[in-house]
Amino acid sequence: MITIALTKGRILKETLPLLAAAGIEPAEDIAASRKLMFATSQAHVRLLVLRGVDVPTYVQFGAADLGVAGKDTLLEHGGDGYYEPLDLGISRCRLMTAGPVGAGRPQGRLRVATKYSNVARAYYAGCGRQTDVIKLYGAMELAPLVSLCDEIVDIVDTGNTLKANGLEPRELIAEISSRMIVNKGALKIKHAAIRPLLDQIAGSVRANGPEAETAEKRAG
Ligand code: PRP
Repeated sequence: MITIALTKGRILKETLPLLAAAGIEPAEDIAASRKLMFATSQAHVRLLVLRGVDVPTYVQFGAADLGVAGKDTLLEHGGDGYYEPLDLGISRCRLMTAGPVGAGRPQGRLRVATKYSNVARAYYAGCGRQTDVIKLYGAMELAPLVSLCDEIVDIVDTGNTLKANGLEPRELIAEISSRMIVNKGALKIKHAAIRPLLDQIAGSVRANGPEAETAEKRAG
C-alpha cells in the first residue's frame, strides 16, 4: 500500500488533475465527503486529505509515504525525514516581507508577525536584522494596521490582499510552488512501487508545464 498525504484546499484542486493524469483517481468525490482517507482507482494507492501544515509531519513519521505540500510549509517545517524529489509547478506564489505603504522601517528591533516564524527568524537573522517574531495563524495583513507589528511575512499571489489593507510587498524570501515529498525509509523499502509512481507524476507535471499551458492557450 502506498499512502499519499494531500493538502486540502486550492493545492488539492490543482493536485488531483496531476494524479489523474498519472492514473490515480479518488474512488469518490473528495469535496463532497467528510472522510479524510480515500481509496483510489489503483488498489495499492490511498489518499489522505490534511491541512497543509500537517503533511510534512505525516510523511516525516512514515504515516504517509508521499505528500504534497507548498514549499512555504516545507521551509517552515524544516525538512526532517523526507526527500523533496519533485516540483509540481502548481500553486505558484511568493513568500515575502510586507509593510504599510510608504512606512519606513523603525530603528532598532523590528516586530514581525507571521505564521512562518522559523522562516522569518532565519531570514531576518541572515540580513543581520534584530527582530521580535510574533506567531499568528491567519489574517496576517491585519497585524500592522493595529500596530501589532511593523512588518509581516506572508504569501503573496496577486498582491490584492496586501493592497486592500494598505500594505506593500518589500523583500522576496522565496519563490513558492507545491512539491512532492517522500519519506526516506519508504523510498528504500517501497522503491519498486514508489519510483514508477514518482516517474508517472513527473510525466504529468511535464505535460502540464508552462510550455503545455502556452500551447493550450495558443490552441484556444
Ligand atoms: C493567502 C495569504 C494571503 C493571500 C495572498 O491566504 O495568506 O492572505 O493568500 O493572496 P493574494 O496576493 O492573491 O491576495 P489564503 O487565502 O491562502 O488563506 P490563509 O490565510 O489560510 O493562508
